[in-house]
This record gives sequence, structure tokens and C-alpha cells, in this order.
Amino acid sequence: MACGIFTVVVYFVLLHHIELIFVDNGNPYENGPLPVGELTLTETEDKSPLHTKLYFPLPKNEFPVIFFVGGFDGVVLAEFYEITLRKIASHGFYVFGVDYKFPAVSDVPQLPDLKPFYDELNFIHQYMPNKTLGTPLWNKMSLLCHSSGCDITLRMIRENSTRYTSTVFLEPFSFDVQTPVTDTIPAMMYGTEYCEEGLATCCVKGKDYARFYDIWKCPRIKVEVASFGHCDILDPIPRQVCKTTHFCKISNETNVDNYRQFVQGAISSFLITELQGRPDAISYIADQTKVPLKLLIDTADLHC
Ligand SMILES: *[C@@H]1O[C@H](CO)[C@@H](O)[C@H](O)[C@H]1NC(C)=O
Ligand SMILES: *[C@@H]1O[C@H](CO)[C@@H](O)[C@H](O)[C@H]1NC(C)=O
Ligand SMILES: *[C@@H]1O[C@H](CO)[C@@H](O)[C@H](O)[C@H]1NC(C)=O
Repeated sequence: MACGIFTVVVYFVLLHHIELIFVDNGNPYENGPLPVGELTLTETEDKSPLHTKLYFPLPKNEFPVIFFVGGFDGVVLAEFYEITLRKIASHGFYVFGVDYKFPAVSDVPQLPDLKPFYDELNFIHQYMPNKTLGTPLWNKMSLLCHSSGCDITLRMIRENSTRYTSTVFLEPFSFDVQTPVTDTIPAMMYGTEYCEEGLATCCVKGKDYARFYDIWKCPRIKVEVASFGHCDILDPIPRQVCKTTHFCKISNETNVDNYRQFVQGAISSFLITELQGRPDAISYIADQTKVPLKLLIDTADLHC
């Protein structure tokens, strides 16, 4: 009798728990089904170690966490990626974008201190309870980065990967790509055709997404998309700045909205699979017939 009640209670707790975790069952290339809110965590008012922007789904579910480190030199970086990050959040993720200053291209090896990023992770963990209706799941966390921000996340994984469930590298750049990564987590490496072309090559051959793939272990997937470049992921104004300064080679205007829609979908396909536990979602990036843009490379090593 007591045993029976115990079983029922355990069953109820498990069932209840499973129901709380949000799983997006739609097509990741469409906008996600959830309304999204935002919070800004400032150094002054909130005592946040780094200026951080949070995009989060409004409902009262449990959601996996994405910790995003942007790439460009300058101010308020996570906000430069707002369109893409918001769309990812609408698929059921708490997306924390932290700002990081570091040139996208530099000949001088620099190894920025990781401490502010660990401090920020610890800070948001402490800060978030009861701030939103939904709950961020700290045991289901992925790193996401763009450009030289990937130098940070790569080194965080090298130091200790146990906190992260998976990782996505968008047009990554790092000097720390000489040796294989020993403790790997599932990873997606993403490149664009124009990144290594133009006046300033905004991706560096031998230190780019293909190299990240080579130093990684299974499970891993790499894709390169045709006809787009390093700044096309950005919101319209920062993208325009990139364009007028000819900083990186980028696409013409005709298809850039579709491009952002594609990028958020590609990232979401991978993270819905890895963080929300929907195994078939990976097909939206691994199966070319489901991908809305032309891929030059689509190589998966997922069955370890
Ligand atoms: C959050 O709210 C609940 C219910 O009101 C309370 O029990 C809990 O202590 C709060 N947690 C924090 C960290 O404030
Ligand atoms: C790695 O991180 C985990 C979780 O934060 C911690 O428990 C563990 O002690 C760390 N390992 C090392 C070698 O630092
Ligand atoms: C813009 O790029 C698309 C491919 O993305 C191409 O088909 C089109 O011809 C280009 N338009 C111009 C004006 O260059």
C-alpha cells in the first residue's frame, strides 16, 4: 500500500516535471510559437559583472539556457544580434547575450581573461529565480558564439566542459585551435561563403569553423552556407555599418531577411535536438532537402 502510494507520487512528480519542459515541435525555420520578453542586466543597477541582455519566452514552463558571446568590437554587442536571438528564444530558450570587446581580426594573439564570463554565469544563476514566470534550466545549457567570441567559449569548454550540454560556433575565430579538444560536447560549426573573402578577411583559414570541426570529436556537424558573409547575421543598422566600412564582404540586400530567418532556424534545429531532447529536429540541418538556403558543406558525424 505505502509502496503503491510512493510509486504514484514518483510517477506524478516525473510526469509533472516532463510536462514543464517546453519542446518545440514545429519547423525551426519558422518563428517559434512563444511570445518573447527581454531584460537588461546592467553593471551599475544589477551589479552584473558584464552587461547582459536576456531574451526569454514568457510562459510558465522550464526552458534550457543559451549563453551567447558576440563577436564584434564595440558597444552593446548582444543588441546587435537582437533579431536572431529573439527568434531563437521564441523556440523555447532563455538566451543570455553578454557583451565582449575584442577585434574580430587581429594579428596579435590575445587571450582575454575568462573570469568575467564565469562570474557572469554565476551571477545570472543567482539573479534569475523569481524574476520571470518561466524557469531557466541550468543543467541544460548551451554555449553560442559569433566570430572571435568563439575564442572565449572554446577556451571555456577546454577548461571544463561539464557545465555545458552542447555548443554552437558561428563563423568562429580563435588562436587556440592547434590541439584537439579532449572533452568534447555535441557541437555545430557554422561558416559562410564570403567570410574568408573581401578586404579584411573576417574569418581566417586554418582558424575557422572547418578547423574547429577538425579538432572536435563526435558528435559534431559542420555547415557552410553559400552567398552570405560575416555581418549578414547582424541587425540592419550594425550590418549597414559593416557594409559601409567594407569591414567584411557581405551579401546584397535582396535576401538578408531570409538569411536571418535561416540562421535562427539552423541554430534552433541543433539546440532543440540537444537541449529540448527532440531527436528528429536535427534533420532540419543534417538533411539538405529541408534546408531553405543553399549549403556548400553539410557534414555530420553524429552517430558515435
Ligand atoms: C521565489 O519565490 C518562492 C515563492 O514565493 C519563494 O519560496 C522562494 O524563496 C523565492 N526564491 C528566491 C531565490 O527568492
Ligand atoms: C568542472 O565543473 C563542475 C561543475 O561546475 C565542477 O563540479 C567540477 O569540479 C569542475 N572540474 C574541474 C576539474 O574543475
Ligand atoms: C543579389 O544576390 C542574389 C543571390 O543571393 C542574386 O541572385 C541577385 O542577382 C543579386 N542581386 C544583385 C543586384 O546583385
